[in-house]
Amino acid sequence: MILAFDTSCDDTAVAVLKDNGDYVNLIASQVEVHSSLGGVVPELAARKHAEIIAALTKEAIREAQIDMDQIDFLAATVGPGLLPSLLVGVAFAKALAYSHNIALIPVHHIEGHIFAPFFGRDITFPFLSLVVSGGHTHLFLVEGVGKYQIIGKTLDDAVGEAFDKVARLLGLGYPGGPVIDRLSKTGDPYRFKVPQGLKHEKGYNFSFSGVKTYVKNLVNSMGGLSKSDVSDIAASFQRASIDILIEKTLKAAKEYDVSIVSISGGVSANSYLREAFVEAGTKYGIDVVLPPSEMTTDNALMIAYRASFMPDKEATSRLCLVEAKPSIRVGEGLI
Ligand code: KG4
Ligand code: ZN
Repeated sequence: MILAFDTSCDDTAVAVLKDNGDYVNLIASQVEVHSSLGGVVPELAARKHAEIIAALTKEAIREAQIDMDQIDFLAATVGPGLLPSLLVGVAFAKALAYSHNIALIPVHHIEGHIFAPFFGRDITFPFLSLVVSGGHTHLFLVEGVGKYQIIGKTLDDAVGEAFDKVARLLGLGYPGGPVIDRLSKTGDPYRFKVPQGLKHEKGYNFSFSGVKTYVKNLVNSMGGLSKSDVSDIAASFQRASIDILIEKTLKAAKEYDVSIVSISGGVSANSYLREAFVEAGTKYGIDVVLPPSEMTTDNALMIAYRASFMPDKEATSRLCLVEAKPSIRVGEGLI
């Protein structure tokens, strides 16, 4: 039985994972706090985490119909993320660990995303993992738990960041992903030729910083935008950005001779991505594994799930060694 926390960014997340696979997965969103400010304000995010984390934990324990003394392990995201936010979750988990004498398992947030698509199904190694979120666009070759090779990543903006920036340029608010996803359904994805960074470069790196300049110039040159102009820009941007992710990931799967590709992180909630990735995978004989929708954006169930693979001896690490850090080494890379 694991009680887990994720406060890496702007959502306070608490989960209970029972040994029979049943779970409670609670998320207190702060979107209302940050949306009017155009993005996440770290100091405000940390304050909100501090206000709600104890009550949310009580609620998770109540919904799971358990007592604190039934918890075998605690788990908390120690990084990467916003340091003020991380500190709240880590300090809270440490206090619980100390007062209830329960081992605390430190979890890398991105490892949580990497394994989330496999929750409730068997994991077969090796697989390629594409993590696409507001802070990351990373392609990993995963050969086992703890064995990751970064084979590609964005050289500038993350793809989720591009969704957020394009949405801001179109006056659609924060976060941009869900609203661009929705508007794209009525837009023409072929009206504008949105640039696909590094399309013709060798290797599997990505670049999304050119997109916002392109959209900015487009918006300025068009003067006023009609509703359909906005939907067409959203759809064209979405198609170009997702298509390059699919193209490079499937090319990497071929080169690395891997037949399983998983996609996770907030952008894996995108409906076009989900449909187009599965369709392309089927065409090339690749099994495309996506997380259940409640495990796409940040959540603590993925942290509990990742912690469940941790050998017991690692879990008993002394509390003073569990530290929040804005970036942490995974394999040979710092992310
Ligand atoms: O994984 P996540 O919740 O937090 C980070 O670790 O960054 O990802 C948040 C990102 C935001 O940039 C948001 O705009 C994007 O995921 N996102 C989406 C969708 N839902 C969330 N992007 C595209 N389509 C969506 N439906
Ligand atoms: Zn995340």
